[in-house]
Amino acid sequence: MAISSLFLYCFLCLWLGHAVLRLEASHHVYRSLQTYSELTSSHHHPDTEPYRTGYHFQPPKNWINDPNGPLIYKGIYHLFYQYNPKGVVWGNIVWAHSTSTDLVNWTPHDAAIFPSQPSDINGCWSGSATILPSGKPVILYTGINPQNQQVQNLAYPKNLSDPFLREWVKVPQNPLMAPTQANHINASSFRDPTTAWLGPDKRWRVIIGSKQNQRGLAILYRSKDFLSWVKAKHPLHSAKKTGMWECPDFFPVSIHGQNGLDSSENGPAVKHVLKASLDNTKHEYYTIGTYNIDKDIYIPDKGSVESDSGLRYDYGKFYASKTFFDSSKNRRILWGWINESSSVEGDIKKGWSGLQAIPRTLWLAKSGKQLVQWPVQEIEKLRGKTVKLPSTVLKGGSVREVVGVTAAQADVEITFGISDFKKAEVLDPSWTDPQLLCGQKSATVKGSLGPFGLYVLASKDLKEYTAVFYRIFKANNKYVVLLCSDQSRSSLNKDNDKTTYGAFVKVDPLREKLSLRNLIDHSIVESFGGEGKACITARVYPTLAIDDDAHLYAFNYGTEDVKITGSAWSLKTAKIN
Ligand SMILES: *[C@@H]1O[C@H](CO)[C@@H](O)[C@H](O)[C@H]1NC(C)=O
Ligand SMILES: *[C@@H]1O[C@H](CO)[C@@H](O)[C@H](O)[C@H]1NC(C)=O
Ligand SMILES: *[C@@H]1O[C@H](CO)[C@@H](O)[C@H](O)[C@H]1NC(C)=O
Repeated sequence: MAISSLFLYCFLCLWLGHAVLRLEASHHVYRSLQTYSELTSSHHHPDTEPYRTGYHFQPPKNWINDPNGPLIYKGIYHLFYQYNPKGVVWGNIVWAHSTSTDLVNWTPHDAAIFPSQPSDINGCWSGSATILPSGKPVILYTGINPQNQQVQNLAYPKNLSDPFLREWVKVPQNPLMAPTQANHINASSFRDPTTAWLGPDKRWRVIIGSKQNQRGLAILYRSKDFLSWVKAKHPLHSAKKTGMWECPDFFPVSIHGQNGLDSSENGPAVKHVLKASLDNTKHEYYTIGTYNIDKDIYIPDKGSVESDSGLRYDYGKFYASKTFFDSSKNRRILWGWINESSSVEGDIKKGWSGLQAIPRTLWLAKSGKQLVQWPVQEIEKLRGKTVKLPSTVLKGGSVREVVGVTAAQADVEITFGISDFKKAEVLDPSWTDPQLLCGQKSATVKGSLGPFGLYVLASKDLKEYTAVFYRIFKANNKYVVLLCSDQSRSSLNKDNDKTTYGAFVKVDPLREKLSLRNLIDHSIVESFGGEGKACITARVYPTLAIDDDAHLYAFNYGTEDVKITGSAWSLKTAKIN
């Protein structure tokens, strides 16, 4: 019922025309496709679609983007997400809603939040959930008002006895935060409220992404009652020349161990993390620092910056991410949107666009200088029979197939042992950009210590494959480890974006084992290097390496031998929506 009245609204939006098209968003508005794609996607047969995934979160059809308001309530995990009920391109955005008891299998519900009042009549954009001290969840989200201004709204569950939280009510006071002449907020650049946190003064705080000229901002608001919000004089943090900060996230991490913390925790055993998704680069950066509650400002540690020389959760396709605290298992979990790397024509053909990455537990590394991420342990229950890779030496120039695993839908963990580092290539000091370096020294460029790794989603004749590999370089008295995900031969189809991604992995290969885990799922390859110290997600569209015709190989294209050991698992299909 809700959905059909929404359809009517958006049908009107289209005919009311240009107002919608003038919206300042980070997405193109493909006006002609809003209805066209609805027609085409209704003829689409998901079961015969080679790029649909087996265990990644996606709805049956249409466009999705940012994960919204993840939370756990009465033992049920909730995921909301930005969704276009009418087509495969961005538009008509509502909060779609699914729930799960294990973060693996998901049940869909009706849209939870959709345009229904002036403060969100032109769209219900991203936001976050906060669990109040009473245990009641509330959601702050960005609404687009009749003037196409971005404003912040509050919604709460209609029935707290319903563990699925199927219906949400908007407060009549909406919008609670809005751009005015007095507060100098740019009405086209004011979105994506975070989870709120409580200070020792019993006041709530929340940040909202913004910019002033090209300075990216985390605008800070405070409230005593969650309804009446007052803008602080200064932002929580800002950085020049970074442009619009979308989907900010701000949370504490423990300096001891891997347990997650509630967003309101602070104190000497806690560091804070601030993440921003930069509209300018379509990359996310996070910094680690200290939250000074007296001044209500966040101060990143020295050298921690929001740019390509800073830290990223993921060095591939991964954007608009958001964490939440899972109080049932004392962990902080990260959700992120995985965009397509295909053309709009490709998206129309397959009838859908976008998925969510496998949720990752994240915590502060022992060094205190970066985060570590690992797929939630629940994903391991999809593992079928184990294929053990006996400990073998992969001679320079050799390729070895890993047989007995469904290579299109698999989980692979492999460890590389190196005994002789003498011949490592010398790292030129100008090679500071890992993505560029991976592009120049791709999988087919012979080296000494590497490239070694895996060919995933590979065709039998190796006409198609995605190469995920390491190279080890020597740099004044230390070794530098580079992880690459090379998509250049991932598909015979030329229309896709096949950028090669790269990351430096902060491991010392002399003292630590060098490991690689891959979650392979038909058109996604999520790579975790150095036990979660560097992650790279890639979208690929093989034309030969599909389903049973996909293969998995270990390879070494360096001159030096590498010893490999590990396991691979076929992954079962999850029940998703
Ligand atoms: C609230 O939810 C519970 C559990 O689903 C249900 O039994 C009850 O009827 C609901 N109450 C109302 C007023 O809808
Ligand atoms: C406000 O943000 C929009 C969208 O990025 C931009 O086009 C405009 O120039 C900004 N206005 C000001 C006054 O900075
Ligand atoms: C999503 O992917 C498309 C196609 O590769 C690209 O044009 C767009 O910039 C991407 N957006 C983000 C946020 O990554």
